[in-house]
Amino acid sequence: MSALHTEICDILGINHPILQGGMGPYKTEDLAIAVTNAGALGVISCIGMAATLLPEAAPIDAVRLFGTDPPPVILQKSIEAVAKGTKGTGGVFGVNIPVAAEFLLASEMFARSVVESRESDSDIERSLRVVVTSAGNPTPWAQLKEQGLIWAHVVPSVYHAKKAEKAGVDIIVASGHEGGAHVSWDPVHSMVLVPAVAKAVKTPVVAAGGFCDGNTLAAALSLGAMGIQMGTRFIATKESDFETIWKQAIIDREERQTLVGRGLFGPMRFVRNQTAERIVEQTLEDVPRFYLGEPLDSNEAILKLERDGFEDLIDAKSDTALMFGGEVVGRIDDLPSVQDLIEEIISDAVKTIQSLPNEVISE
Ligand SMILES: Cc1cc2nc3c(=O)[nH]c(=O)nc-3n(C[C@H](O)[C@H](O)[C@H](O)COP(=O)(O)O)c2cc1C
Repeated sequence: MSALHTEICDILGINHPILQGGMGPYKTEDLAIAVTNAGALGVISCIGMAATLLPEAAPIDAVRLFGTDPPPVILQKSIEAVAKGTKGTGGVFGVNIPVAAEFLLASEMFARSVVESRESDSDIERSLRVVVTSAGNPTPWAQLKEQGLIWAHVVPSVYHAKKAEKAGVDIIVASGHEGGAHVSWDPVHSMVLVPAVAKAVKTPVVAAGGFCDGNTLAAALSLGAMGIQMGTRFIATKESDFETIWKQAIIDREERQTLVGRGLFGPMRFVRNQTAERIVEQTLEDVPRFYLGEPLDSNEAILKLERDGFEDLIDAKSDTALMFGGEVVGRIDDLPSVQDLIEEIISDAVKTIQSLPNEVISE
């Protein structure tokens, strides 16, 4: 099989220029193992683990998902499990730490847990090589590099990409508005964002938001990116940790069936259903006040909706469960293994890139 090799492969020590996006509320432990063993970058997700700090206020059933350990211990166990599960292939993996202002206490705990896990075990030190920060200000996190970690940061605009570059990140993940879960209030989509960021910074760029196959990987490389980060596509895989109902929703929906509404920190893109529609209605009432800087009286109401939605999800009862997903749901209709998916993406991207000159260039 022909391979694709970019600067991202060298920086991260991976075979294929594909990153798995961090995806709460699950730990994405099984997914991270499968992605890493397939030669791409698997990533553990922390965001849901923090819910165990305030289980009664959290919009998920934290105890059921994570037990009662404190968040840094949950992460440490997860890191140990992924290091063990990937030891055979010698692959590398990362941890996603959201650094939103509302989440900073938890972010610091998770960063410490990453550093301590690496210090405590040479296998973990070798395999846990990457931290992907997201949803906030990168500047205070440069210390991660001093710990020998490779540091990627997710951005939604050229402004934020320049800020991340100034902070010293190794990789910038430019994430377009079509992506699943947290998005920016300013809707810049991948087709505009990725080439604009690639032009504005010298740091290698990974494209996120809407990527799912060989054609879109080839497109990302044409736009100046060195690889792709996928979230929604990886949900619908055999190994992913997501509930069956969530995987099926991704497979069933068409491209018009996602909605953006207020989420935990800023807006989120949801898979369209009754619960998502109610959140959007609530958002439309609140957003003008949000822009005027007034407090949002109905935060609690939105959190309650999310809480109810998640309870529904965790019991896997019905299609009213609250689920996040990107517009790319419309391009996903199967449930492959991670290994098959990655192999197909790479071989199709190679075919696309090789066939284009013959098809479109005239002498
Ligand atoms: C269910 C779901 C949960 C997500 N949770 C997180 C998260 O915890 N942290 C994060 O940085 N990004 C999160 N994301 C964004 C992904 O990491 C990725 O950047 C995004 O899904 C890319 O767009 P795509 O969905 O079109 O592939 C999430 C996405 C989805 C679909």
